[in-house]
Amino acid sequence: MKLGHSLMKHYLQFKDLRAEEYSYLFERARIIKTRFKNYEKYQPLVDRTLAMIFEKASTRTRVSFEAGMYQMGGSVVHLTTGDSQLGRAEPAEDSARVISRMVDLVMIRTFEQDMLERFAAHSRVPVINGLTNEYHPCQILADVFTFIEQRGSIQGKVVAWVGDGNNMANTWLQAAEILGFTVHVSTPSGYEVDAAVAGVGDSNCYKVFNHPMQACEGAHLVTTDVWTSMGYEAQNEERRKAFVDWCVDEEMMAMAQPDALFMHCLPAHRGEEVTADVIDGPQSVVWDEAENRMHVQKALMEYLLLGRIG
Ligand code: CP
Ligand code: NVA
Repeated sequence: MKLGHSLMKHYLQFKDLRAEEYSYLFERARIIKTRFKNYEKYQPLVDRTLAMIFEKASTRTRVSFEAGMYQMGGSVVHLTTGDSQLGRAEPAEDSARVISRMVDLVMIRTFEQDMLERFAAHSRVPVINGLTNEYHPCQILADVFTFIEQRGSIQGKVVAWVGDGNNMANTWLQAAEILGFTVHVSTPSGYEVDAAVAGVGDSNCYKVFNHPMQACEGAHLVTTDVWTSMGYEAQNEERRKAFVDWCVDEEMMAMAQPDALFMHCLPAHRGEEVTADVIDGPQSVVWDEAENRMHVQKALMEYLLLGRIG
């Protein structure tokens, strides 16, 4: 494995990068996306291999990383728990030592953040978080990029989070602290965000509201996620009852700024966390948001392997 720069970085949480690195990445993603849309070949990762390890299901993460890596001239190896020795209890530390001798970059989607951290601690190559129970940094990278594309800087803006205090909510809080915006959080009782788990120290980066309508008031972006995340399926029935008022509908969107955007990391359940009118309506940017996963991750992989370009 040969890095184009001296210091190896992992991307395990949103706060692993600084604000000025995000400015660079968002600009780089814009350039990479424009080239792609113009059918310009750009293959800086020829002979580089990405291993993708999935311990949970995925559509967007798999397709965006795999297509993105091929577009940049590289190749991918796809592993799941069921078809690798990870499913037969080979330790993350041993898997990391072996896999990282053969590839240049690793993306992991798993349950506990701790598994990802242990893998990264024993990896010779950069490791990217493709979602854990605690965080989903690649998604928020795409979401902030999408906001900037549509509305310009996110600094000073208000993002309303309606729903579970989950991996997405935690990562929004980290992004707010680093990039200088505020998250208005409304969750049902018992599903609050935990600042310690989210890893945010600056309480000014978020405000808690009991009612989702209050959280949406004046927001520049309203966003939500499934009521039951992967790994929590046993709680499905109790969550369906607890979350019934946390459905983003047109009334909630009317509380936000008139030009507020709606985002959802997808997959979505229409009629649960969001109505069809909202997700399929004019303020929704969910399809751009999903596509942008690929463009921002191409910029991220380029950065982790080659450092700054130009
Ligand atoms: N948003 C997201 O990560 O989607 P997948 O679960 O399909 O990868
Ligand atoms: N919070 C969801 C996000 C899915 C992309 C989950 O973890 O299942």
